[in-house]
Amino acid sequence: MYNSARLGILASGSGSNMAAIADSIAKRQLEAEIALVIYNNPNAYVKQRCIDRGIPHILLDHRHFSSRELLDEKISHTLQEHKVDLVVMAGWMRIVTSVLIDRFPQKILNIHPSLLPSFPGHKAVEQALEYGVKITGCTVHVVTLEVDRGPILAQKAVPVLPDDNVASLHQRIQLAEHEIYPPTIGQYLKT
Ligand code: GAR
Repeated sequence: MYNSARLGILASGSGSNMAAIADSIAKRQLEAEIALVIYNNPNAYVKQRCIDRGIPHILLDHRHFSSRELLDEKISHTLQEHKVDLVVMAGWMRIVTSVLIDRFPQKILNIHPSLLPSFPGHKAVEQALEYGVKITGCTVHVVTLEVDRGPILAQKAVPVLPDDNVASLHQRIQLAEHEIYPPTIGQYLKT
């Protein structure tokens, strides 16, 4: 239970989930603050979203680290320096190691663009389309060492439409993500 939890967000891409979380905080629907956004791609649009909103952000480019563990060591240290209570992976496209997970036990959440346990790992939206499912969606879960296998906190179903392509389906899944991620973070902070 926190008064106003400090979130450390990890993002690799566009940052629309980060923005949804920031908007929810701004509307006082989510009682938290974004202490820091760590991103790993210099050109990730999430950087611009942080600048626009005045959110502290730092680039930790995985290409500058010789192992996943060394990157995670730096991430852990940086998050601790910023007194982060909960780590929120929002489109973080790196596999995380025990270095980070052990530093924040049960304190790392992830959002994944499928109804887990279906279609874990990379290219979840492509996998769903290729398989031909009629319903997919998104999942918020606690991060454990097994990729996309941690306890599920929330899910939202999204129908696959007959003329969907990866972009159109992913766009609708992301709208569902923006709906469920902020309130799920809020609920989790109360546990
Ligand atoms: C989201 O759809 C998220 O579910 C996915 O990346 C996208 C990031 O979008 N994450 C994964 O695929 C993790 N395996 P965003 O940068 O606009 O929030």
